[in-house]
Amino acid sequence: MKLNVIEFESIPSTNQYLKENYQTLPNYSLCVSAKQTKGRGRMNRVWQDSEGSALFSLLIKDNIDDVTFIPLIAAYCVSRVLSKYVDGIKVKWPNDIILNSKKLAGILVEGITTDKIEAIIIGIGINVNNKDFDTEISQIATSLYLEGNNYSSIKEIISLISHEIIETIECCDKAKIVSMLNQKLWIKDKVVSFVYKNETLSGKVEKINEDGSLKINCDGRAVRVVSGEVTLHDIYK
Ligand code: BTN
Repeated sequence: MKLNVIEFESIPSTNQYLKENYQTLPNYSLCVSAKQTKGRGRMNRVWQDSEGSALFSLLIKDNIDDVTFIPLIAAYCVSRVLSKYVDGIKVKWPNDIILNSKKLAGILVEGITTDKIEAIIIGIGINVNNKDFDTEISQIATSLYLEGNNYSSIKEIISLISHEIIETIECCDKAKIVSMLNQKLWIKDKVVSFVYKNETLSGKVEKINEDGSLKINCDGRAVRVVSGEVTLHDIYK
């Protein structure tokens, strides 16, 4: 399977690059950068990278059948590949990868829509060989290196994950993906708050449903959260 790899030393954002160039780029273009000056995270947050991160985005133009499931495919593939490097990988639905209660990787899935969905961009940032982080995030971020791995090949990790995502998109077994993500669900049985129909609610996380939504028990009422974010009441936000 052919990846069209575009590499940079430094770029504002690999997601932004693909967004600006998706019309002329082929399906499965992979944009990789050693650094980003305007890295973006979910919910309009900033993604700060320090030296040693894997920063890459994959452009999907074909096989976009079920857009809502793409974030779960991405989380599944990133956690599967990182589990080859370290034990104890967990997933914070929908898109954070957690190790020892700290964030190891984040995923930002963006769609480009006209009157139909033209393309999907899967942006991934993984803390691989990072030795330290800025003070604001040093309590909540970790890297493979800080968790005891020697230097890992960023190129190898990016290649494994990109190929895994493409294979999974082309041959998607949703039940298998949901089952694996439930086994790794970091927030299972934890109390979280979340915004639901413009209201902030709290409840205990039960599981990821078959369609990829999150089932939360709010005082006996099952609430199905489709997208957005859940915030833990303790440790990690
Ligand atoms: C999050 O944790 O909120 C998602 C972070 C996603 C960061 C990656 S780094 C590569 C790609 N380019 C970006 O600007 N963001 C994603």
